Amino acid sequence: MRATVWHGKRDVRVEHVPDPRIQEDTDAVVRITSSGLCGSDLHLYEVLAPFMTPGDILGHEPIGIVEEVGPAVPDLAPGDRVVVPFQIACGECWTCRRGLPTQCETTQVTEYGMGAQLFGYTKLYGAVPGAQAEYLRVPQAQYGPIKVPQGPPDDRFVYLSDVLPTAWQAVKYAGVPPGGSIAVLGLGPIGAMACRVARHLGAGTVIGVDLVRERLDRALREGVTALDLEAFDSGAALVDAVRGLTDGRGPDAVIDAVGTEAHGSPVAKLAQAAVGLLPRGLGARITETAGVDRLSALELAISLVRRGGTVSVSGVYGGAVDPLPMLTMFDKQIQLRMGQANVRAWTDEILPLLTDEDPLGVDDFATHHVPLDEAPDAYAMFQKKQDGAIKVLFKP
Ligand SMILES: NC(=O)c1ccc[n+]([C@@H]2O[C@H](COP(=O)([O-])OP(=O)(O)OC[C@H]3O[C@@H](n4cnc5c(N)ncnc54)[C@H](O)[C@@H]3O)[C@@H](O)[C@H]2O)c1
Ligand SMILES: [Zn+2]
Ligand SMILES: [Zn+2]
Repeated sequence: MRATVWHGKRDVRVEHVPDPRIQEDTDAVVRITSSGLCGSDLHLYEVLAPFMTPGDILGHEPIGIVEEVGPAVPDLAPGDRVVVPFQIACGECWTCRRGLPTQCETTQVTEYGMGAQLFGYTKLYGAVPGAQAEYLRVPQAQYGPIKVPQGPPDDRFVYLSDVLPTAWQAVKYAGVPPGGSIAVLGLGPIGAMACRVARHLGAGTVIGVDLVRERLDRALREGVTALDLEAFDSGAALVDAVRGLTDGRGPDAVIDAVGTEAHGSPVAKLAQAAVGLLPRGLGARITETAGVDRLSALELAISLVRRGGTVSVSGVYGGAVDPLPMLTMFDKQIQLRMGQANVRAWTDEILPLLTDEDPLGVDDFATHHVPLDEAPDAYAMFQKKQDGAIKVLFKP
């Protein structure tokens, strides 16, 4: 089959690889019909490269048709249409039963002290072959795959794999009171969807921050107060502007939908600005460390949120020793929630919204549908945010 294969930093190729097959009784093999390209894949393309091995197959946002099932997968049959969650979980262990499949005790990657295995996501997460391919071997298929109706286009359901539960969890963790305010940092697929979910779940004021014109424009059209990071001289000016929109206090919650890489040079500028907001010694210490550009969005979130508010982190962070502004976080009494989205824990709440009425606008959420063979160009385009790319779906 053909698959998108990682070869090195900014080097992915579509190659022929062996077809996956059933290896365990709980496996299924799915023929992929659409597969998303995610901001998380961009981390592999760049900063997480040390945890990748040339030959790794990328991708973790698939929808497709079941080809084959192992003998211990009673609820799936060939021909079923399924969305496969990005994490691999058993559904039966202590953590799965508590709605935390990202921590599944059956699939945890204990060798690296990590949580549940993920498709196509470094050896830290099990080096499991990913879904930007023609076929996918799905371990723990007795639990993971979400059966969806035949008929509507793939776009209707594919985001159940990642974008929807991630945005949903980010908003749920944010705990915004009815009519309350929320700021979303980053208006990529996750941030854009988080804005829609926040509105749907009753937030009053939704503020979005990014630096990419098309992403800001799209949010603006959807009723989000979209702020261009680059229009502010300093982090302090942005904090002031947001306070001006939120009764002078800052939003009840801030979602960090950016993560470990703040893309582009303007962001380094903002990082310094955000550090400038911290008490002197602390800011200086942070500036001296490697953590400074990598934590810029999280630092901004901490600065923006109102006292007693919540910072909900869906952006992926990888550093083990990054310094955090503990003084500010403690003094402002901030609640901090984070983690990979527990996909199956949210499916039942989200699925009823994937109808012809399309309240979350999934049907035309994707900006690009791209043949799998063009994956290398699509990665480059998405990383550079060219051609208005916000969400890319591959068609194997
Ligand atoms: N927790 C989870 O389960 C989960 C699931 C999917 C994705 N993610 C993570 O969520 C993050 C966003 O994913 P995405 O697909 O939307 O990616 P993306 O890279 O397309 O979006 C990130 C956006 O943030 C903007 N940005 C960069 N620096 C900024 C700053 N300092 N302030 C405000 N905006 C800034 C970028 O311009 C970009 O539009 C990534 O880190 C991804 O790994 C987490
Ligand atoms: Zn993803
Ligand atoms: Zn489990």
